[in-house]
Amino acid sequence: MVEEKLPDQSDSRSRVTMSGKASKAEPITDITIEKEERVKTKMAEFNRVLGGGVVPGSLVLIGGDPGIGKSTLLLQVSAQLNQQGGKVLYVSGEESAAQIKMRAERLELRGTDFYLYAETEISAIQGTIEKLKPDYVIIDSIQTMHHVKIDSASGSVSQVRESTSTLMQIAKMNEIAIFIVGHVTKEGAIAGPRMLEHMVDTVLYFEGEQHHTFRILRAVKNRFGSTNEIGIFEMRNGGLKEVLNPSQLFLEERLAGATGSAVVAAMEGTRPMLVEIQSLISPTVFGNAKRTSSGLDYSRVSLIMAVLEKRAGLLLQNQDAYLKAAGGVRLDEPAIDLSIAISIASSYKEKETRPTDCFIGEIGLTGEIRSVSKIEQRVKEAAKLGFKRVFIPKNNKDGWEMPDKIEVIGCTTLSEAIKKAFI
Ligand code: TYD
Ligand code: MG
Repeated sequence: MVEEKLPDQSDSRSRVTMSGKASKAEPITDITIEKEERVKTKMAEFNRVLGGGVVPGSLVLIGGDPGIGKSTLLLQVSAQLNQQGGKVLYVSGEESAAQIKMRAERLELRGTDFYLYAETEISAIQGTIEKLKPDYVIIDSIQTMHHVKIDSASGSVSQVRESTSTLMQIAKMNEIAIFIVGHVTKEGAIAGPRMLEHMVDTVLYFEGEQHHTFRILRAVKNRFGSTNEIGIFEMRNGGLKEVLNPSQLFLEERLAGATGSAVVAAMEGTRPMLVEIQSLISPTVFGNAKRTSSGLDYSRVSLIMAVLEKRAGLLLQNQDAYLKAAGGVRLDEPAIDLSIAISIASSYKEKETRPTDCFIGEIGLTGEIRSVSKIEQRVKEAAKLGFKRVFIPKNNKDGWEMPDKIEVIGCTTLSEAIKKAFI
């Protein structure tokens, strides 16, 4: 149970609509659409995730684990928006203005219309926004903000919700784009960004493994664009750098000729990405077989192992299995099935796949290989990166133009694909 304090009911807040203006019912044919303008930052990855740029008057939530790089990202975005002539107010409840300045210097950012403000009280922030009239406001982080009207602690459900709804009002009334940072709390849902998802226009999650340098910005909700876009960044000494060619990067450390490795051309949003799937299969020494997977859905892996056992005759029940999508990415789409199966088979049989082979296809329970979407883009990406053969579902072979540098092998069943891959 979480206690929730309600604000003063005499408030007129609930009358504010999405557009910030008083609204009335109108016939749909009478409504005119103003051309939606977007401001593009210099980071193409960031623009793409937002659906093409920053929309004025939008409220964007950026969630992520503490220390993942949210402040760094927003500081860099602020500097760029400022360079393009926007007035930016960066409100921090976590660091002092001097600390932020130090970080900005480390990132080599400076700007004359870039204001830093260390404050945690929402009405004070509202006052400053009204005086300064910025085009963009960053709130870092929502968990440190509080509203005088509510007397519970910062970070509590009612404080977080009330602060966000005030910010929503400010964004809509003044056409200011506001970015809110939200830490993902250990307990998960309570007072974390999840609770705010329905209130804001766009929700982006910044994720990555602490010990990897890659960071992935993922759109979870977007009123102004598609939600399956991701942006890839690398955390370096001088801040976040965008990764424009992720495939190359994810394959860089691949060990040619190792068993248990298979490459897939997965789609992340509108972009194909080549990722190595690794497996390690070894006999169980004692008790139940151990199975883990990182970056891959565990139930998908279990299902594929069951199909391999039943339809392709691999005896996996007394084998431990460890699976991983290399590079710290998380893949979740049907087309990665075949590469998972091949990588398991490769480790089990102790036979390596050819380093220039790529595998695409969904696996059905009867061991059939089912067609997948966007096959042309996937195969083109593989060809572009120098792959020589690509295994695809047979039903996917028609109706598109195959690149001539790559041999396309159509497969109907899993056993057929395994046979062709290991000769
Ligand atoms: P930060 O943006 O403070 O994370 P968050 O706001 O999500 O809590 O990022 C902190 C981490 O980023 C910190 O561990 C150090 C690292 N970092 C770099 O590696 N290079 C840099 O240039 C900067 C500014 C930070
Ligand atoms: Mg921070």
